[in-house]
Parts: sequence; C-alpha cells; structure tokens
Amino acid sequence: MPSMNDAALLTPGDYADAVATAVRAAAAYYTDGATPLGDDEYDALLRAVAAYEEAHPGEVLPDSPTGKVAGGAVGGDVPHSVPMLSLDNVFSAEELADWAAGLERRLGRPVAAWCVEPKLDGLAVAARYRAGRLERLITRGDGLAGEDISHAADAVLGLPAALAEPVDVELRGEVLLTREQFEHANEVRTAHGAVPFANPRNGAAGTLRAKDRPYRIELTFFGYGAVGLDEGLTHSALLERLAALGANTAATTAARPARCATLEEARQRIDEIAALRAELPFGIDGVVVKADAAADRQEAGSGSRAPRWAVARKLAAEHKVTRLLDVEWNVGRTGIIAPRAVLEPVVIDGVTVTYATLHNPADITRRGLMLGDRVFVYRAGDVIPRVEAPLVEERTGEERPIVFPEACPRCGDAIDTGEQRWRCARGRNCQAVASVIYAAGRDQLDIEGLGGTRAVQLVESGLVADVADLFSLTREQLLGLERMGDTSTDNLLAAIETARTQPLNRVFCALGVRGTGRTMSRRIAAHFGSMAAIRAADAETLALVDGIGPEKARVVVAELAELAPLLDRLAARGVGTAVSAPQAPAVPGPAGGGPAEERAAEEGAAEEGAAEEGAAQAGPLAGEAVVVTGSMTGVLAALSRNEMNELIERAGGKASSSVSKRTTLLVAGEKAGSKRAKAEELGIRIVTPDDFAVLVADHLPEG
Ligand code: IVH
Repeated sequence: MPSMNDAALLTPGDYADAVATAVRAAAAYYTDGATPLGDDEYDALLRAVAAYEEAHPGEVLPDSPTGKVAGGAVGGDVPHSVPMLSLDNVFSAEELADWAAGLERRLGRPVAAWCVEPKLDGLAVAARYRAGRLERLITRGDGLAGEDISHAADAVLGLPAALAEPVDVELRGEVLLTREQFEHANEVRTAHGAVPFANPRNGAAGTLRAKDRPYRIELTFFGYGAVGLDEGLTHSALLERLAALGANTAATTAARPARCATLEEARQRIDEIAALRAELPFGIDGVVVKADAAADRQEAGSGSRAPRWAVARKLAAEHKVTRLLDVEWNVGRTGIIAPRAVLEPVVIDGVTVTYATLHNPADITRRGLMLGDRVFVYRAGDVIPRVEAPLVEERTGEERPIVFPEACPRCGDAIDTGEQRWRCARGRNCQAVASVIYAAGRDQLDIEGLGGTRAVQLVESGLVADVADLFSLTREQLLGLERMGDTSTDNLLAAIETARTQPLNRVFCALGVRGTGRTMSRRIAAHFGSMAAIRAADAETLALVDGIGPEKARVVVAELAELAPLLDRLAARGVGTAVSAPQAPAVPGPAGGGPAEERAAEEGAAEEGAAEEGAAQAGPLAGEAVVVTGSMTGVLAALSRNEMNELIERAGGKASSSVSKRTTLLVAGEKAGSKRAKAEELGIRIVTPDDFAVLVADHLPEG
C-alpha cells in the first residue's frame, strides 16, 4: 500500500493526469464493472490525488473524483429518497482506532456498541416496496439518483417480490454473483457465444443492466440497510428485522454480522471475517464497522459522501490485473496434466504471484484466454492464485492462442482427455517411468539398455518404483520378465553395477531436482564434494553456488527434503557415496565452528571469485573458461556435450555454454557457427577438438 509520502511526490502535471485516470477508471468501474486499474491501484491513486489537493487547496480540479460518491462517475434518472452514500476507508487497525476515536470525540462519549459485518463486493441497490410488494429496483448511480433496473429484480435471489408484512419500505443492500453463480453465469455465457465475465463484480454489474438476454443469470441480494423502517432500532436489530421481512442478509453466512461491545471485540471480529474470506461463497473487499445504537448514528450524522458512523476496513484487493505470459503443462504424481499460468509478477496480499492455476483445458477454453492477455488474477488467503478472465477489451491483436499438448509432456505417451482433467495414459506410472528413464540417461547414471520400453516394463512389473530400486534388482527378478534372456539380464545388471560408482554430479543430476540440470549438478557436486554435504546445506549455503539464487536455493532444499527417503535408499545401496574434496567448505569439519563461521568462510571464497576458484583447481585448464561448439571429432567424437563439460572441469577449467568476454578458450569442432565468429571477434584462443584432446589427455574418460 503506497504511503502518503508517495502521494506528496505528485507534480501539478502528474496531479492532472492522476485525476483524469481516476475519472476514467471510476466511470468504467461504476458503469460496467470493468476497470483498467486494480482496487489497490485505484485506492492509491485517489490517496495521491487527495494528498495533493490537501497541500494545494487552491488547485483542486472541478472534475476531481475526491469527495464524490462513485468518483462522480455516474448518475441516473430515478432520484433517491435519501442519498445512497459511500463509505470512508481505513486500511489498518491503527487507522480504525483513529477513526473510532474521532467519532467518539465528536459524540463526546464512547460509542455504545459496534456492529461488524462483511463488505460485500457487488453493487448497491435500493429496492422500493409498497404495501410489501416490490415496486422498483434502482442502482446507486451517483448517490442522488440511480437507474431503474426493475427488469432484473426477479433474477435476484434474496430479494422477495412480496415481504412478510405489507409495509412501505426501501431496502438497501448489495447485489452480487456468488462464486457459484459466477461460474454458472460464465458457462451459460460461453454456451451462448458471449464473452465470459472477468470477475463476479463485473458480472453482477453487466447482468443487472442487461435487458433482453436470451438466457437467465441469477444474482443474490444481501440487505444491510433500510429507509422507513422503525428508526430507533439498533443496526443489528435492523438487520434482524430485514431478515424477518424475508430479505437475505449476511446473517445467513459464516461472515454474519456481530454486535461488539468494544472496539477490541470489533477488531477480533474483523480478523475472523478476514480469515473466512477464502472460504466464503462470495467476494468481500473489506469489513464494515458501524455504530450500532440509533442515537449514536443520528448524532454522528453524515458528510456529503459518507456517513460518519460507519467505516470500511478494507482488505487487500484479491483481484489484480497482470499479463499472462505463458502456460506450462505439469504432470502431477497421479498423471494429471495440469495447466499453469506464468504471469508477469504481481503483488497480491503482500505476496508476489508469478504462477496461477488454470484448472484444466476446458477451463482455459471457457475463459477464452490467450497468451499475452491482460488477465484478472484472484487470490484468497492461502489459496493458490487463479486466473479468472482476460480483459478482452484490452487486446492488442498480438495475443496468441494457447497450444494444448498432444502427448504427455513428461513421458510422451498418449493423453486421456475423457475427463475435464487430462491425464497421462500411464496414470501414476508416468512419473516413475519418466524419472527412471531420466536417471538412467546418458548424462546421468548412463545405464545402457535401460531405455523407454525396459523402464516401462520394470515399473509396470512392480519391480521398480524409483531409481534406487534399480540397484537392488536381482538376476532372478529380471529373468522372470518377458523378453529378458540371460544375455540381456547380464548386460543390464553389469550396466547397473557400473552406474553404482558414477560420480556425485551424475548421481545428483539423476535425482532430477527441479531447477538443476547437468551444469548446475556439476557445480553443486564440485562445491560440496559429497551427497552428505549437499544434504546438510541450507538455502543460504546453497545460494553460494554460482548460478543458484535464493529462490532456486529454497526450491533445491525443499526438493532434497522430499527426496530424503530416496537418497537414504541410494546411499544404502552405495550410490553417490563417493567423497571428493569440495571447492568450498560446505559443512564444518569436526573442529569447525558454527554456522556463522562457516558462512564467513564461504563468503570469503565467493568474494574472491574466479581467481580463487582457478587457483583452487589444478590441471591443464586451471583458470580457463572454456566453451565447446560444433561437432567433436577424433577421440572426443563419442562424448556428449555434458561429457565434454565434465572433462573440462576434471581438467581444472570452467565450462560454459556461451562465448563472452570472460571466455578464454573455444573448442571449435566441425560446423562451428556463430560462437566461433564471436570468439574470433573477441580475440579468444580457438583450438580444434584434436588439439584439445591432447591438452586434456590425462583426463579423458577411460575406454
Ligand atoms: S453501508 C450509509 N454496509 O460499500 C451506509 N455498505 O464503499 C453506506 N457495501 O456503497 C453503506 N457491504 O455498496 C454498507 N455491509 C455493508 C456493505 C456496504 C458493501 C458497499 C455499498 C457502499 C459501498 C461503499
């Protein structure tokens, strides 16, 4: 939440722009519920405008939205009997306490009691009843006059056509779409070829105003006030009276209004309602605190915009607008293929959101999302953020369709699209098969003969559930499998035996830890020297490895914790247990100091950077930053790029994939292209694969 200090920075020109932006946003918001600004941004803008006006009272622009109901955006043609006011906002417990103290000062006595109720995120309406019959439904408009929306009345649940008593009364309250009504509304709309609503508020606004739609969308009314109903009632008693007349109120929900004797109690109820937010079947954007006693309310009175006896304690906006950058397809443990939105980072509720769930492919289609769309993102409490809808009107034409996968993105097998949630045809086995295939791959454990078909066979037979199981396979077990004769069995067992002694970087890579491929695995292995040291590292220590930021470090630590049972079983089978000298002291030795000392040592190593690293490495490539390009020939022809990189590092150099000023040596094979050109340009030493092989002859792999 920007502070007033930000606001003080407005220049006269910025002020005029801010007023214009706010007027446009208010007009859009109060007419069709669509807004280019999120609630937080709009509030911050208004605060900035108000602060400027306070400092320069002589310069207030006539169309400034401050002090006007609905930002002065709209009017209508049905005058209100009593103005429909807005509410002042507070954004913290302190601001609430200040507001309450101000009210009590004005009254010259403590407020008798408070009523605390949810601030429903919909549209205010006035429902006029004569002799208990609903006559007219009117929007708030500019607070003085609204629009007649009686045509929509019968679709509003909780707003009876006839009250329980034949009274003349005007009920006031909020009309909204509950989450269920919103979902349903969008299904109906898409089925009719209409654009889905961006969010429930938008939907409620659109639905109330629409006439002659070929389909019906139901809304819900929540009463919170009345004109012409036994004045003299406490506010909480008034709410009960509304319910007795047959109107719906928030008393029917978990966020029911509560009468609180003290402000402290009121604060507790605010916290309770805020905590319920995620589970409520409708949206709230705050909690309203009202003086309960009629005398307190009457004496406090109202300003032109808002009553003095009530205030809205705003909660951080749940909806934010950001851009949909990409859609990733992730295969879950059970084989469910779930789309996930990659978003331009946006802070919601104090948390930076970069991913949001998209549920399933049908959901994407229903919402009509495209890559590059500006989208509403919703986050309630601890719930995973989700993308609600695109701002279709903001499309530029650059948006691209979202491509659905045709094969399982993990194992490449078919996708079962029979249900809403797509699933890999292998189901649960998809994960196991894919992880075993990956672990056995050439750049990991390099187990020859353990390709796709064999991995599937091993997993499906129940012999292998993960990579550790490979190392306890017996001859008898393998011979029991179809198409496994003596020779294939012996070959496979021999390949597994060889894999048992693979170096740490390969074993680590075989784990498939998120965010770590071959290069990162080599760096981690070199840095720590043993699996035990890697496992003992906390995020801070891991972040000392070149290329691992704090975020990735946390992911790696979490992944390793999850992989602990697998790592234990691998260790028990003698896999990944070799220890080499670490480049940096990853864990304190027996005589070592505490974590602080360890950190100091590591920081020292990191600060001295490349020179120190080079010096620590012995070998013909000590101090060299080497890049390999083109296809290798001669003895190097058989090596994969990863094996080349391993070779470079065994020989004391640092392998990297792109040529930069820091590169000192380029190994250029056949068909070397742009990297060679760049190296030539930078005057970097270039060698052929054969020359390079001679240089590192002592470190070449055996065989
Ligand atoms: S009382 C004179 N109570 O919030 C009293 N308003 O930001 C004015 N709102 O225009 C309203 N829930 O549309 C009140 N429990 C509640 C409310 C509520 C939602 C809306 C209403 C009002 C707006 C002000």
